[in-house]
Amino acid sequence: MNTLLLHCRPGFEGEVCAEIAEHAGRLQVAGYAKGKPGTAYAEFICSEAGGAERLMSELRFNRLIFPRQWARGSFVELPESDRISVLLAHLADFPSCGSLWLEVLDSNEGKELSNFCKKFEAPLRKALSKAGKLLEDGHKPRLLLTFLSGRQVFVGLAEANNSAQWPMGIPRLKFPREAPSRSTLKLEEAWHTFIPREQWDQRLSDEMTGVDLGAAPGGWTYQLVRRGMLVTAIDNGPMAESLMDTGLVQHLMVDGFTWKPRQPVDWMVCDIVEKPARSAALLETWIGEGLCREAVVNLKLPMKQRYAEVRRLLQRLEEAFAARKIKVSIACKQLYHDREEVTCHLRRLGK
Ligand SMILES: C[S@@+](CC[C@H](N)C(=O)[O-])C[C@H]1O[C@@H](n2cnc3c(N)ncnc32)[C@H](O)[C@@H]1O
Repeated sequence: MNTLLLHCRPGFEGEVCAEIAEHAGRLQVAGYAKGKPGTAYAEFICSEAGGAERLMSELRFNRLIFPRQWARGSFVELPESDRISVLLAHLADFPSCGSLWLEVLDSNEGKELSNFCKKFEAPLRKALSKAGKLLEDGHKPRLLLTFLSGRQVFVGLAEANNSAQWPMGIPRLKFPREAPSRSTLKLEEAWHTFIPREQWDQRLSDEMTGVDLGAAPGGWTYQLVRRGMLVTAIDNGPMAESLMDTGLVQHLMVDGFTWKPRQPVDWMVCDIVEKPARSAALLETWIGEGLCREAVVNLKLPMKQRYAEVRRLLQRLEEAFAARKIKVSIACKQLYHDREEVTCHLRRLGK
């Protein structure tokens, strides 16, 4: 029970290791992180009893940047047949759980295992319920089984309110056919990730205004328009005609790094491919000067030390807002639809 398993985008195992090791050091949880490039997961192996549980109770999952999902537990080897008996025996010392998710990693092997999991789930669910291990209760921990193969599974626990919202941290969003680009899903996922659903009507309302910097062809603008907002789209490139036809979009062919609105707006979103420090500085200006109340900005990460770079930029933002004496909530996550990048959400609090 003393290993923390963390799912991630393949290629970001090193970032997850750096991030979890930093937190563990700060919280004085002894252990070490390891992750093989390309495997889509990393582990933090705790050297003292209860270490993984302590890490999970001290950390908020949604404050972690690179992990997509996490669970505390251990690896179990499974036989070719009657895997359920072996799992039940392993779970003998576990508390009863409130829900069950069967997960795979975001790798080719993982994709191949999805069918196996689908077939295995129903009989397993039945056996667990019969053994009193699964009670369908949202307050009890979630049982997370991450299959690395048909013969090896990580059997873990996580609190339902302190782990991924979706199995494997992957939202199943449907691409809207009318959207002009696939990156529309990035902004939609950002909203699901950073804004509680019950606040959408208030914080993404049709009485709001938004600015989309680097907007063309309009995938992000589409999301703002879909919420009924009036949008200023900044880009030298062309915007999709379907968006311009809505009458809700004003398209300006100017530089997104120097243009400023005459009146403050509710939302600023930015998906320009630029050095992350420059995009972070843009956030500092827009939120710091009160040009917008909330912002979603992508930080592109073409460099090697990606976790270190993101931490440095987030810290710089925190210091800048502290110096201006303004309260800002800052969140940052590598979303499923993000590639070599992370998405930041900032919200100015108070007046
Ligand atoms: C990744 S694309 C944006 C895609 C858009 N979010 C969508 O969903 O369709 C980046 C855009 O930023 C624009 N861009 C690059 N530098 C810019 C700048 N300095 N000011 C405004 N737009 C810029 C590019 O023309 C390009 O259209």
